[in-house]
Amino acid sequence: MEELLDAMDRHGWATMPGYLADADSRRLRHECQESCDAGEFHQAGVGRGEGTAVRAEICGDRVLWLQPGGESHEQAVYLVKLEALRLALNQRFFLGLFDFEGHFAIYPEGGFYKPHLDRHAGTSARVVTVILYLNPDWQAGDGGELKLWTNSGEQTGDFQRIEPRMGTLVCFMAGEFWHEVLPATKERMSITGWFRQR
Ligand code: OGA
Ligand code: MN
Repeated sequence: MEELLDAMDRHGWATMPGYLADADSRRLRHECQESCDAGEFHQAGVGRGEGTAVRAEICGDRVLWLQPGGESHEQAVYLVKLEALRLALNQRFFLGLFDFEGHFAIYPEGGFYKPHLDRHAGTSARVVTVILYLNPDWQAGDGGELKLWTNSGEQTGDFQRIEPRMGTLVCFMAGEFWHEVLPATKERMSITGWFRQR
């Protein structure tokens, strides 16, 4: 946790392999897969206002929103950790984060998400983006990396390519860092969410 906070302090973004134990990540992946098989997923951009504006930038990602209060045991394990992270971020950076909204996301083979910010001036309460990846045995060449431009506010210059490996967490300031999902050559799962302010 301290490492993550220090990185957020220095850079405004952070990534941490092994944030969630393998067994816990595997259970979340299993739940994600089962819910998808049960037809519970829908096209990104449907169902919540915020998503609709960015829909044209997405190819093929399907989502299932986590239901506050109705979460599974598997989700609760992760959400408890996120709650500790939320409080720590508030304590250190005075961000006034008051809750978390998140969804499972599945990108099919060939899926991508063009460069974007997660927060548009004046339209969003999203302050910090938090993503947990759920892909075991991800290999170099499988694509689907998160490309994150590391200069705040700029979609040029230095960037990181973060592989969506099982248990890896990424977080960054939602309104500052341009990012995209590169085309994946196989199905790609994650839990993507945002700490919000009022
Ligand atoms: C998003 C997003 C990145 C990822 O859903 O807004 O940018 O790596 N996702 O899944
Ligand atoms: Mn995004």
